[in-house]
Amino acid sequence: MTKLAEEIQTIGVLTSGGDAPGMNAAIRAVVRTALNNGKKVKGIKQGYLGLLNEKIVDFKGSDVSNTIQTGGTILGTARCQEMRTEEGQKKAAAICKKHGIDGLVVIGGDGSYAGAQKLAGLGVNTIGLPGTIDLDIACTEYTIGFDTAVNTAMEAIDKVRDTSTSHERCSIIEVMGRSAGYIALWCGIANGAEDILLPEKYDYDEQKLIDNIIANRKKGKKHHIIINAEGIGHSTSMARRIEAATGVETRATILGHMQRGGSPTCRDRFIASIMGAYAVDLLCAGKSKRVVAYRDGELTDYDIDEALAMQKNINEYEFEVARMLSR
Ligand code: ADP
Ligand code: F6P
Repeated sequence: MTKLAEEIQTIGVLTSGGDAPGMNAAIRAVVRTALNNGKKVKGIKQGYLGLLNEKIVDFKGSDVSNTIQTGGTILGTARCQEMRTEEGQKKAAAICKKHGIDGLVVIGGDGSYAGAQKLAGLGVNTIGLPGTIDLDIACTEYTIGFDTAVNTAMEAIDKVRDTSTSHERCSIIEVMGRSAGYIALWCGIANGAEDILLPEKYDYDEQKLIDNIIANRKKGKKHHIIINAEGIGHSTSMARRIEAATGVETRATILGHMQRGGSPTCRDRFIASIMGAYAVDLLCAGKSKRVVAYRDGELTDYDIDEALAMQKNINEYEFEVARMLSR
């Protein structure tokens, strides 16, 4: 049986899946809001893996001092196969019970929400917070870490563009996002890329890219930036083919994990902080199996089943503007 809200004494917090800048601000907000509400707080290290291995520590307010400005996650994170199994989920719920954790805040993406959904079904009050650089959670317009990641990628792409222009090259720059193209779309617009390849939209017609590079050369453009989303990938072989077809020297740069690190932006710190507080408020108000979301400038929350069933698509208008501005 799920405990009644007033009975919640101890709130656990974990980060799961890929880390994201701003996760520490969210942890800090969960810890301090819970303590201010008279709850005990337990930090669970390394996501569900740490939960299953009982890597659980008591948290006091000072444990989260001097963390809001830091990248990564002070709790550590992991991907954990065992949590995907019924046995693992039952073990995790039993460990929560053993440690008196009757409310659990899970900071992560859709996969982490699925784990929280299973734990809620086993009697642990859970709240999910959107923590991923990929912006690929359907119920929310904002995910913790996205803003820092796109700013990091944007600055890196500007630098690649400098050298690309000097050498009059074509540069294919691959950005993260798993199967989603949000980082690619935002950087494509913000960096003024000539081509933006999104998994949701790309038709794999390389001839169009080749024609575009040749046409831009004829117009006198000295660089050609192609932002390629990780979900499409193969940037190095693409560069080889494009160079052979166009005669324009072409290089591939895969930005990789640098996009996940670094001090979080103000926006990531701010939203992570209010979302962390909101998650604890939900638990204290007797809510469970909910995820926190940001929509139309406001915080809101959804049932996890509902949130996981939602679909998210690239905004058509933004995509059209990106194409139009790159011509
Ligand atoms: P994200 O949370 O960023 O989407 P993952 O998809 O890797 O990242 O999920 C993080 C972790 O959440 C997984 O390693 C696993 O432990 C747990 N998880 C993912 N999917 C499920 C599932 N269907 N049921 C239970 N736990 C899951
Ligand atoms: O979900 C965040 C993310 O950085 C994705 O953009 C990327 O596909 C994935 O994680 C990489 O995961 P890992 O760090 O396990 O290689």
